[in-house]
Amino acid sequence: MVRVAIFISGGGSNMVALLDDMARSGHAGIPCVVLANSEDAGGLAHASARGVPTVVVDHRPFAGDRAAFEAAITAALDPFAPDMICLAGFMRKLTAEFADQWAGRMINIHPSLLPKYKGLNTHARALEAGDHVHGCSVHEVTAALDDGPILGQAVVEVRQDDTPETLAARVLVQEHILYPAVLRRFAAGDRSLLILPS
Ligand code: GAR
Repeated sequence: MVRVAIFISGGGSNMVALLDDMARSGHAGIPCVVLANSEDAGGLAHASARGVPTVVVDHRPFAGDRAAFEAAITAALDPFAPDMICLAGFMRKLTAEFADQWAGRMINIHPSLLPKYKGLNTHARALEAGDHVHGCSVHEVTAALDDGPILGQAVVEVRQDDTPETLAARVLVQEHILYPAVLRRFAAGDRSLLILPS
């Protein structure tokens, strides 16, 4: 079995989708820990409710020292012996050293059709650009932000009356389909591209 650690910062709806899929049959992944960078992360309760251990490594005491924050993360993960990491709405940038340490073993979901709209405010940026399609991507994490080989994408059609909020809500529905589908394949050793149409 592949031991999966999931990193969250907020409500953890993607984390829930991953945990619920790992609980279904035929999955090579098994959740070993959920890590949050704040005890306020709403997803922690959802992980606990599913019997998955949680740890909090608050980034605030490490302000300006990402390496020390990551050393604390590494120490917190150690007892759970993860084989891979899923970033699921984890809103802290990771250093190149951490990315290198987990190269090929860390994946992320991002709310855009990468390589478009790396970083924040992806839905507003897609609307401002007049895009007709938008979506989400799962990719391997490398040293550069929201970069790295793309493992899967789901396409969402943009509607004329969309706001960033309505568009985000429809993209999130697709995230909850795409991320579990990609993790299921990835944990089984399949890194081929998965495209979900709108
Ligand atoms: C999701 O839309 C995810 O794609 C995005 O944050 C949201 C987290 O929701 N991630 C990023 O923007 C990463 N840079 P969740 O906590 O309910 O899964």
